[in-house]
Order: sequence, then C-alpha cells, then structure tokens
Amino acid sequence: MRIGVLTAGGDAPGLNAAIRGLGQMAFRDGHELIGIANGWAGLADEFSGRNLSPEELSGIVGQGGTLLGTARYDLDHPTGGRDRVLASLAKHLDALVAIGGDGTQQISNWLSERGAPVVGVPKTLDNDLVGTDYCIGFDTAVSIVAESLDRLYTTAASHHRVMVVETMGRATGWVAAMGGLAGGADLIVIPEFPITMDQIIAHLVKRRSSNNAFSIVVVAEGINLETLGGHEEGGVSTEGIGGVRLATRGVGQFVAAQIDAHGGFEVRTTVLGHLQRGGSPSSYDRIWATRVGAAAYDAVVAEKFGMIPVVRCGGVELTTLATVATGQRQVPRELYDLCAAFF
Ligand code: F6P
Repeated sequence: MRIGVLTAGGDAPGLNAAIRGLGQMAFRDGHELIGIANGWAGLADEFSGRNLSPEELSGIVGQGGTLLGTARYDLDHPTGGRDRVLASLAKHLDALVAIGGDGTQQISNWLSERGAPVVGVPKTLDNDLVGTDYCIGFDTAVSIVAESLDRLYTTAASHHRVMVVETMGRATGWVAAMGGLAGGADLIVIPEFPITMDQIIAHLVKRRSSNNAFSIVVVAEGINLETLGGHEEGGVSTEGIGGVRLATRGVGQFVAAQIDAHGGFEVRTTVLGHLQRGGSPSSYDRIWATRVGAAAYDAVVAEKFGMIPVVRCGGVELTTLATVATGQRQVPRELYDLCAAFF
C-alpha cells in the first residue's frame, strides 16, 4: 500500500514520534510511507509527497516539530481546495493518515464522508479534541507551564509581586488548568469558568491579608475579555485552520493592567507563547504519540477508514472522525474545583 501521512495545523511536541510509530509498522510489513509536506497544502496544491525511509524515521522519537512541515492552510479559500485534495489523494495514495486537531479532523471527516480512505491521529496541545483523553503535545506543554511557574514563584516571592502568566488554549483551558495545578498557581482563569475582574482583585487582596505577599495568576489566552470588563475585539485573523491568532489579544497584559490600576500590587506579565510548543517532547508524549501512530497503521491495514485512534481509560481505542469533529472537549467542573481548592 502507498500510505500517505501529513501533519496539519499548529505543530506540537510528539508529531515525529507519531510519524515514526506509523512508519516503522508500515515498513515492517512492506508498505510504502509517503510523507506529504506542509499539511493539506501538499495535497491541494502541487502534490508534494515523497517516499520516507526507515533510516529517516530512525532517531526522531525525541525530536520536536514535524519532519514533514505543517501549515494552517485554508481549504475553502481559494475555493475548490477540498476537491483538489480528494482528487490528489485518489491519484497518489491508497490511504491517508492525517495528524492534527479539530480543524484537521473536520477536513478528514469531510473527505471520509466522500469515500476517501482517511484515518486520523489526535494532536493538539490544547488537548480539547472530543472523544479522547489525550492529544499529542499536551503533556509537554503542561510540563513547560509547570516549570515556568516554579521559576516565576521564586522571583515573585522575593519581590512580593503578582505574576500574571498567559498560556495557550484557543477555546478551552486545559493547558492553563493542568499547568497551573502542577505548578501551584494561586488563581487560574479559563474560558470554561469565567470570573470577573472584581473577583480576581478580591482574591489577591484576601491572599495578601493572609500573609501571602505574592501571587501567581494563570490566564488562558482564550478567555473572554468582556467578562473581565474589557472590550472584545477578537484576535488578528489568520488564513486557514485555526482562524484567529488569540495571542494578539493580550489577555495577560490586560489582566495585569487591571490589577495594576487597582493599586497596591506590583504586577508583571509573562506570555509563555510558543515556548509551550517548541522543543523535545516529554516521555509521556513520546509513548502515546507512538501508540496512536502505530494504532493508525493498524486501522489503515484493517481498512477502518473514517476512524481515529484515541486514548481512553489508559488504552487506545478507535472512534469515528465524526465524533472528534463535533467541537471542543471542555475542562470539567470537578477538575476546575480541584484546582480552585488550592487558590
Ligand atoms: O491550536 C493550538 C495552538 O497552540 C493554540 O493554543 C494557539 O492559540 C495557536 O495554536 C497558535 O497558533 P500559531 O502558531 O498559528 O500562532
């Protein structure tokens, strides 16, 4: 079989481990693995597939980024992009494994509904794909947030300051909540459970009056500024999967400025940004990326198209692309309450 593989949307640590997991299984059984460059662009524009070799997939389990390149490519602009992908897939490949987040899997599902032999692999550092407990890249991002909070803690304590830390998280607060829980945040603000600026200030005042002279406030980039008394102008729009660059909204700076304006606190802001996506994947990401990559191969050879391997209850299962394409999985109330118990 000629099995194609692409990585689409934002990169995440663990993509190379997933490509390796898929590829080494395919080579073992005598199949070809065709690496498509730069996500959907490599199928919608001129076909940019090339044969990958076992040697090329050797030694990459711990490498960040994606050896295939990726892109946020808008298949609906210029029009006809999806049809070109369908045609290119039929012409060049026997099956396609698409590694990506919700935008990518919506396209995978659309292709699959039209009879294309597509299998997905769940990747998004935001960890919010429906139907899976885990997405490639999340564990590494959480570790980076936690380590950053450890570092900010000592300087915050020394200076008796409020540190506002902005994390990634487009529509949900998984990275902020779990990074904050692991790093001992004193307040976590995420889209799922909005709080007002008055509540934030009241919490900081209470902490200070209980002899906690410093505080670390973690804010997810996707929070709604209007609930904090701000004006929601939206982020700068970007072409392709992902839509809007939320980081340009500056929610961390906004929250810090409001705390500063209240008076009585010395405030600093840290935007973790793409540090959360770069560099080497954690062992956890390497292991699970390998497992879902290998499971995608199993699904392809079993011709279970329209499916995606997901992590559920400590194991890998298959679910439908239609399931993961339905929206975002939110941080549940009980998990946020656990975080809040330590505020
Ligand atoms: O979707 C994953 C993600 O890392 C989001 O958390 C973030 O908003 C976005 O990608 C950033 O994308 P880009 O790298 O295109 O700026």
